[in-house]
Amino acid sequence: MTPVLELKDVALRHRGSAANVVEDVSLTVETGHSLALVGESGAGKTTLLRLLLGLSRPTAGRVRFDGADLSPRDRRQLRSFRSSVQCVFQDPYSSLDPRRRVGAIVAEPLRSLGIDSRAGAAPKAAAALERVGLPADAADRYPHEFSGGQRQR
Ligand SMILES: Nc1ncnc2c1ncn2[C@@H]1O[C@H](COP(=O)(O)OP(=O)(O)OP(=O)(O)O)[C@@H](O)[C@H]1O
Ligand SMILES: [Mg+2]
Repeated sequence: MTPVLELKDVALRHRGSAANVVEDVSLTVETGHSLALVGESGAGKTTLLRLLLGLSRPTAGRVRFDGADLSPRDRRQLRSFRSSVQCVFQDPYSSLDPRRRVGAIVAEPLRSLGIDSRAGAAPKAAAALERVGLPADAADRYPHEFSGGQRQR
């Protein structure tokens, strides 16, 4: 089994706080496997996710991606990290820009990560929409024209 993302003995203390918010956490996300994080409110779930996404740095311990320590200064690694590790937010109502058509929203990461041109990204976005069972004209419609479940897909 290949580890994709790892936390090793991670701790995080917020500036100005006396105590660690998370302490001594190690976990591994492996290819083809799901990992659920469960805990009461304030336990540190969002804090751990921010560490896993490289949005905060641990006070102690290491965050590893694809077998190497995640380094915020390594632009090449960060580029590969950003195209491999994505966040799907829980609330589709606040995740989709209401002023943009769905096809453009889905195509945007392909363009911003330099994977495709605008012309190349459009058919891939249409194919992705089709794969999750959305109608053929979905790409030309706006987010408000979809149900909550369709927006999540
Ligand atoms: N920027 C911050 N500065 C100081 N303390 C913070 C900050 N962000 C979060 N905390 C504290 O860190 C702890 C963990 O917060 P976190 O947001 O990770 O919890 P959570 O498990 O996601 O909770 P919930 O289920 O309510 O979303 C909490 O006690 C919170 O008050
Ligand atoms: Mg949270």
